Amino acid sequence: MSKKPPAPPQTEKRVFKPSREFSKKARIGSLQQYRELWEESVKRPDKFWAREASELVWDTKWSKVLEWKEPFAKWFVGGKLNVSENCLDRHLGTPRQNKAAILWEGEPGEKRALTYQQLHREVCRFANVLKSHKVKKGDRIIIYMPMVPEAAIAMLACARIGAIHSVVFGGFSAEAIRDRINDSQAVLVITCDGGYRRGSVVGLKRNVDDALKEGVETIRNVIVYKRTGQDVTMQAGRDLWWHEEVEKVDAHCPSTPLDSEHPLFILYTSGSTGKPKGILHTTGGYMTGAYTTCKYVFDLRDEDVYWCTADIGWVTGHSYLVYGPLACGATSLMYEGAPNWPENDRFWKIIEDYRVTIFYTAPTAIRAFIRWGDECIKKHNLSSLRLLGTVGEPISPDAWNWYHSVIGGGNCPIVDTWWQTETGSIMITTLPGAASTKPGSAGLPFFGVDAAIVDDDGNEVPANTGGKLVIRQPWPSMLRNIHGDKARYKKTYWGDIKGMYLAGDGARRDKDGYFWIEGRIDDVLNVAGHRIGTNEVESALGSHPAVAEAAVVGRPDELKGQAVVCFVTLKMDITATPQLREDLRKHVRHVIGPVATPDDIRFADALPKTRSGKIIRRLLKQIASGGVVSGDTSTLEDLSILAKLGSSED
Ligand code: WTA
Repeated sequence: MSKKPPAPPQTEKRVFKPSREFSKKARIGSLQQYRELWEESVKRPDKFWAREASELVWDTKWSKVLEWKEPFAKWFVGGKLNVSENCLDRHLGTPRQNKAAILWEGEPGEKRALTYQQLHREVCRFANVLKSHKVKKGDRIIIYMPMVPEAAIAMLACARIGAIHSVVFGGFSAEAIRDRINDSQAVLVITCDGGYRRGSVVGLKRNVDDALKEGVETIRNVIVYKRTGQDVTMQAGRDLWWHEEVEKVDAHCPSTPLDSEHPLFILYTSGSTGKPKGILHTTGGYMTGAYTTCKYVFDLRDEDVYWCTADIGWVTGHSYLVYGPLACGATSLMYEGAPNWPENDRFWKIIEDYRVTIFYTAPTAIRAFIRWGDECIKKHNLSSLRLLGTVGEPISPDAWNWYHSVIGGGNCPIVDTWWQTETGSIMITTLPGAASTKPGSAGLPFFGVDAAIVDDDGNEVPANTGGKLVIRQPWPSMLRNIHGDKARYKKTYWGDIKGMYLAGDGARRDKDGYFWIEGRIDDVLNVAGHRIGTNEVESALGSHPAVAEAAVVGRPDELKGQAVVCFVTLKMDITATPQLREDLRKHVRHVIGPVATPDDIRFADALPKTRSGKIIRRLLKQIASGGVVSGDTSTLEDLSILAKLGSSED
């Protein structure tokens, strides 16, 4: 990547200091304290992380903190622990035993509270159900569920017996489920009859049935939690009702001590090829990372009501809805449905009703809130809030200011948290009691994170110069592998510059050391905070009989951050029609899921390519954003086609 000129000056120059009151109470209460601890954490990671990990419960203590044979890390070598024990059992017999672990609200309005004791019981029972169906340590389990407590129960039950869960986001299609089952060779699927979203019912079991119709050999059972009560077909011998199964078992299920490097979960994410990557996380390091970041970044207190709005289908839902907060003994709020159902004020009503103190959401949601206007917010008392957070994409200073003043009432620190499915836990942020926030910047590296901006050769670039965001030493919650594909793991993350983890984001660092994330440098889009590989959409389009070739790029979008724009050439005898455009949109939804629905499909006679046949995305991006095509086009195969790509007319 070539060096970029210094970024344009920021529109928001103000820096927001933590209030004295917040700092006084916070675990890390000054910049100096942060700096000292950070120094220690990168110079003596063994010391720092051993101290943090000791706050968890271990069945056997590790003999060595880190074994690093680049690019393969083992953390807490020889240690044994169980994640569900750390999230549940260790709070029993303490004052937290009868505290709410999960507060849940369904979209239609039902409310449930599960104390740590109750959650423990449910997890034990469901773990026994899994065992009764011969699920063993190391087996892979697909979880395809809406946001109901049973989704967390299923995850924790897997963790309890050493089964490896792979949660598939409810917005993915049958084909996406099938691919993930086959890649992970899963033996069992846990799902619901359906889930509620914006007033309608999503047929989850139906999607699972479609996924299993053909081409899947490994699934023995499907366990179905009854959520909506809609009609579903239950295949005898294969499909089982959750409520019937839990009646057959007792609630006694000791957790299995697992090797620190035993896999905890696989979570699929988009990369720059058509095939999603199964990101593999293991037990000890992941638990330590999720716990430590939750504790320091959200500065969690026993009296907090903490609400992370992410779906459990994404890594944020794993680390900051389930594992991190529960390991901290916090009260984690879970809401099933859409923020604008039945009215635009649903989130604010929830904050008021539950007296939420910490609210963690995504910039794409914040942009929608801004659009819906402040009236519906003013109706509610949000004074319980003390800390706000964002994740998933850069937040513009304008949106930041709105969030700060309208939602936070001008007195809540905002933690902008940069991290990835691969990193397992937060990597860059401003600790709320320690460091000032600069709107639009993710902030400073978290403990143990040696982040830097480098050029193509791995040399650190001067302040305010764009470059590649890398991490120069291993950290506990880092991914260990791409499931079943060591070579791809090595190449994708550690193959670019020796000794450095390549995040795939471009960024710059200012003179105070703050990181400003500029977005992906690979062919991955960030649509409403979801990672969508352009190649995935291209292969989906390519599988339609009318399509000869497709190229997909992102276009800046006010609400979603990026919109999906597709350039499509059709087979010889096919005519471009509005109907065909609609069919192609539906086709992509069907193949990948509603998250990847194209915003714009443009038909073209041909696609701009280099002489070696590579599609020139740079040009397509410029055309998609309505910009003027600039730059060197001398390697183009056919310049004349450029002109024809500029409009979405047939
Ligand atoms: C982007 C989500 C700017 C980034 C936890 C990263 C961000 C990708 C931020 C990971 C942030 C995440 N500021 N960009 N605070 N957080 N990103 O795997 O491009 O779904 O590489 O993990 O989201 O997305 P993922």
